[in-house]
Amino acid sequence: MDTAKKIFFWCLVGFVIIQFVPLDRTNRPVKKAVNFVDSQKSPEKIKSLIKAACYDCHSNETIYPKYAYIAPLSWSIKDHVNEGRERINFSIWGTYNKDLKESMLTKSIQTINNKSMPLPGYIVYHKDANLSDAERSLLTQYFEELLKSKSY
Ligand code: HEC
Repeated sequence: MDTAKKIFFWCLVGFVIIQFVPLDRTNRPVKKAVNFVDSQKSPEKIKSLIKAACYDCHSNETIYPKYAYIAPLSWSIKDHVNEGRERINFSIWGTYNKDLKESMLTKSIQTINNKSMPLPGYIVYHKDANLSDAERSLLTQYFEELLKSKSY
């Protein structure tokens, strides 16, 4: 075998081997009492926007696409989910204290406005998460109302 073929062969072997590295994709059960959209009784429209745009990384209701089962892409996706949940997990919203909720609502408004959320790489492959400007303002207005009325 010439060198190029050897390199290709061993890359292929490596690729196959990494598919066997276990990755935990199980979602923890969601309690309605502390889940953001349930406990806040969000209107249906808001509920579907948040679920489509944020819940894959910021909740325990992650829906993994088929390509999330192919390493090493799967590792990067799981990293995003882990990191997203660490920052803000809407499934356990009710367990956060007042300060944290305030700061999360404020940061959510900022990140939606400056288009850093939902993650730009993600919306390329998730059309319903690619929020229009009108949908972005619906969401931010909703978060602003919650902040103002202090009902969170
Ligand atoms: C594809 C995964 C993904 C999606 C979808 C997503 N996020 Fe994030 N989010 C992350 C990751 C990863 C981080 C942490 C790293 C960073 O800040 O870029 C984060 C961080 C955040 C933070 C914390 C910022 C800070 O400064 O602490 C907020 C608030 C947030 N996201 C809100 C949202 C909202 C609201 C949506 C939906 C409109 C959303 N995200 C959609 C992955 C995601």
